[in-house]
Amino acid sequence: MLRNTVIPSGKLSTEVEFKARPSEPIRKSPSPEGTIGKEILPPEYAQEQHDTWAELYRRQANILEGRVCSEYLAGRELLKYPSGRVPELSYLSEHLRQATGWRIIRVEGYVPEKIFFRLLANKCFPCTDFIRHPSELEYTPAPDMFHDLMGHLPLITNSRFASFFHAYGLAGAAAKTDEEVAWLGRIYWFTVEFGLMNKNAHNPSFRNPDETTIYGAGIVSSVGEIIHSLSSVVKKEPFNVDAISQRVFDIHHMQDTLFEIASFDELESEFRRWASDKTLLV
Ligand SMILES: [Fe+2]
Repeated sequence: MLRNTVIPSGKLSTEVEFKARPSEPIRKSPSPEGTIGKEILPPEYAQEQHDTWAELYRRQANILEGRVCSEYLAGRELLKYPSGRVPELSYLSEHLRQATGWRIIRVEGYVPEKIFFRLLANKCFPCTDFIRHPSELEYTPAPDMFHDLMGHLPLITNSRFASFFHAYGLAGAAAKTDEEVAWLGRIYWFTVEFGLMNKNAHNPSFRNPDETTIYGAGIVSSVGEIIHSLSSVVKKEPFNVDAISQRVFDIHHMQDTLFEIASFDELESEFRRWASDKTLLV
């Protein structure tokens, strides 16, 4: 999702690594799993932070038009984001719960992968509540709440995507080896963070490149990635979960190859098949 992010060597380059700690100290919290079911208290945001949210929201809304999948737009509508101020996690969590039964868990930043998997398995999505500095509107080294809330959350209101995401968490929680975790990290990268959709992804005769839309959060939350991912510079391949699980990616540069699903039905059913084959799901 974010280039130039420093990843500890030997660690999996997935969402959990990208939730790096912000440079500014923020409130400490107990373990993420310990906060399940607890009230999420919002911090006091300065006007400058509300203005940062408003500017990020405005830029994204302008550029997403016609480029993002319809499921994302439906989720954004359902969650009723404020456009001019930082939203409260508890407010969005309640809307999310009503849609698919998922909830938000507030986290400081980095979440160890095993905890991350278990949170998803419990239909909890970890979100930060810090927002980037105004000087980082174009790029931030650590994903902030704009990435979490405007990148990830809308799709979790979609029942099919949410079902895939739950299965992903269950498979992750069942993973026992570093190799299994690495497979899951690659699948996450090329779907949840950098996934594209085209209804004719598997039918070259009918595939229209102009019909490709974005659903990956790493793209959706970055103006530069939105433009780049849909350009002809990026090669588009049809989704193949077996191949993706083996595909090593480079986090330090923009992607040169991305994968298109035909639908979230395909994403879920293919992931479940793959995970069952690997005995990560029953
Ligand atoms: Fe992310």
